[in-house]
Amino acid sequence: MRLWVVLLVLLVGTSLVEGKNDDEEDSYGDEMMDKKEEMMRKKSGSRRVRPSERPPRASAPTRVLKSQEKANCPIGCTCNRTSVSCINVDGDASLFQQIQPIAFPAMDTLVLTGNRFADISGSGLFGNKNVHDMLTLANFSDNRISGISQETFANMPHLEYLYLSNNLIDKTSKNPFGILKKLRKLYLAKALKNPATTLSSMFDTHRNQLVQLESIDLSSNKIEKIEETTFCKVNGVAELLLSKNSLSSFEVGKNCLNGLMRLDLSGNLFNSFSSALFDALPNLFALDISDNPLVCDCDLKPFIEFAQKEDSRFLNQDKTVCASPQALYGKSIFRLKTESVCVPKSSNVFSNLFLLVLFCTVGFFIYRFYRHRIPSPAVFQFGRRSAAPPPTYREIGEGGRIISREGSPDEEDSIFENPLYTFDNPAWAR
Ligand SMILES: *[C@@H]1O[C@H](CO)[C@@H](O)[C@H](O)[C@H]1NC(C)=O
Ligand SMILES: *[C@@H]1O[C@H](CO)[C@@H](O)[C@H](O)[C@H]1NC(C)=O
Repeated sequence: MRLWVVLLVLLVGTSLVEGKNDDEEDSYGDEMMDKKEEMMRKKSGSRRVRPSERPPRASAPTRVLKSQEKANCPIGCTCNRTSVSCINVDGDASLFQQIQPIAFPAMDTLVLTGNRFADISGSGLFGNKNVHDMLTLANFSDNRISGISQETFANMPHLEYLYLSNNLIDKTSKNPFGILKKLRKLYLAKALKNPATTLSSMFDTHRNQLVQLESIDLSSNKIEKIEETTFCKVNGVAELLLSKNSLSSFEVGKNCLNGLMRLDLSGNLFNSFSSALFDALPNLFALDISDNPLVCDCDLKPFIEFAQKEDSRFLNQDKTVCASPQALYGKSIFRLKTESVCVPKSSNVFSNLFLLVLFCTVGFFIYRFYRHRIPSPAVFQFGRRSAAPPPTYREIGEGGRIISREGSPDEEDSIFENPLYTFDNPAWAR
């Protein structure tokens, strides 16, 4: 009984609220209505109101009339009051001209992805002075953008999140983002076609610009080298993502990146690191150096000791492994015993010893084999006697006595036929 009363009261309340708002509801009547129903349902303990119990809906015209945003929505895109998305429309840069501030005054999110914009470094994308004041998030990923400049972003001055990942930028004016005073996160993963020429000018900004910028994602750009002054002018940056590039060193200029807290250097080509990085970046507390070909030798040992002591400052420790020497291959630098780094391996001693023994043995046999071939000096020479003593030979005499004699045995007692002859002089052994 009480339930029915509550329900009745709720129903009356609903119709009252609906009635009061009827005239406010124009174009997005349907949406608002659905939302309100949702809210009501929640209030009434998720009991769905049956269609028969529904109060009469707003008058018919509201359903037919499109919102201003929907009416102006470019073909293939979806639009509502605050958001426009054109995904895989394959449009060119003229698409921007169809998204005018006058039609989308409250737009805060613009997602244009999977198009072909090419060079958009020219004058304001939406046309002169057509400024989107409310726009805070622009997703321009995956658009084959090749050129950008300050003018590109001139008509969206309040951007806080800018996604430019997956593009082919190889041309940029100096300081293209400088105009974006409120920019907080900049995504440039896999965006730069030629980072060697574009990267340093991108952040060559003025002191009072990009002060809000806290995160830069530059992963997967094949960056081989970063000038140590590149990020000196964006001192507020707390997060720098440089994973999956081709860096083998990372140097930071004096008093640069003072506020950096998170640095991702994973998936690069570093053989070695130094704890000096933490001296240069006093606020760094999350460093990722995983997936680098670390050479765990004597040079790296001080860093390994440092890393183990300060391991709370390192991310992805299980993937931070040695690539060499062989004995430490695949071992996390955080798990291995520091005594096992930089010691001459016992197996090396053994193999060296083995080689030495082998060498000596071979040498010995070679000597044995060839020593008889060394031509001996002639025993007699014309004019003077050889320094060598005359050869002697032994002969078994009668009764088994061994007689040593100078000179050579008789021709008929050839040494080859008489096994009883042994010779002291190697020259005879031939
Ligand atoms: C507008 O559309 C976006 C996605 O297209 C959605 O996330 C957002 O909630 C919508 N806003 C309103 C007010 O309906
Ligand atoms: C931006 O667009 C890309 C490509 O469509 C998508 O993968 C990504 O999730 C989008 N990000 C945001 C924040 O809209």
